[in-house]
Amino acid sequence: MFHEKHSDPTVPTPRLARLSHVEMTELVLPQDTNQHGTIFGGRVLQWIDIAGAVAARRHSHFKVVTASIDEMHFLVPIRLGEVVVLKASVNFVHRSSMEIGVRVEREIPSTGERMKAATAYLTFVCIDDDGKPVLAPPLVTETDDERARFEAASERRARRLAHREALRGRA
Ligand SMILES: CC(C)(COP(=O)(O)OP(=O)(O)OC[C@H]1O[C@@H](n2cnc3c(N)ncnc32)[C@H](O)[C@@H]1OP(=O)(O)O)[C@@H](O)C(=O)NCCC(=O)NCCS
Repeated sequence: MFHEKHSDPTVPTPRLARLSHVEMTELVLPQDTNQHGTIFGGRVLQWIDIAGAVAARRHSHFKVVTASIDEMHFLVPIRLGEVVVLKASVNFVHRSSMEIGVRVEREIPSTGERMKAATAYLTFVCIDDDGKPVLAPPLVTETDDERARFEAASERRARRLAHREALRGRA
């Protein structure tokens, strides 16, 4: 019934999706920007990875590693002196893997205006001290929004794993 590679087949206690929620706020400093005064995409990815890892750990309490980050797009430029708000939460849990959704917002400090700058979906895998996958706590959804996110994430998982197999075939 369980993935044979899991070192401990005991299913941890399920946890509520909302308890995984993370909000992280960053001020865009000179070292975060390029010669045009806009933020490096890699810096945004770093913050996304950190916000996602905190949400994954908050849900699972296990060590986690990033297994994949889905294709993502930067929708608006973010400039020096602006604020970046990242909101992350667990959308879906399979066995050892969890999909975390991260919404990135650009905030303009002089007006308080906020707009969506990016959305990212990351898969984190719970691991033990030997780096082997272990079962994550199942996710308990409470709202229609959380249930819709769970369903959408389940479909993305199937596409993601098919893509991974295709990449492996090319290696
Ligand atoms: C992620 C990792 C632990 C998976 O280990 P593995 O031995 O390949 O494990 P499996 O193939 O049994 O997969 C374990 C789970 O990860 C999921 N998974 C593995 N690779 C994945 C990928 N690329 N995208 C999404 N999910 C993935 C599997 O679907 C499975 O999920 P489930 O237990 O919920 O069904 C391993 O590939 C690893 O350590 N990768 C490096 C991670 C890392 O260092 N990240 C930092 C950036 S380099």
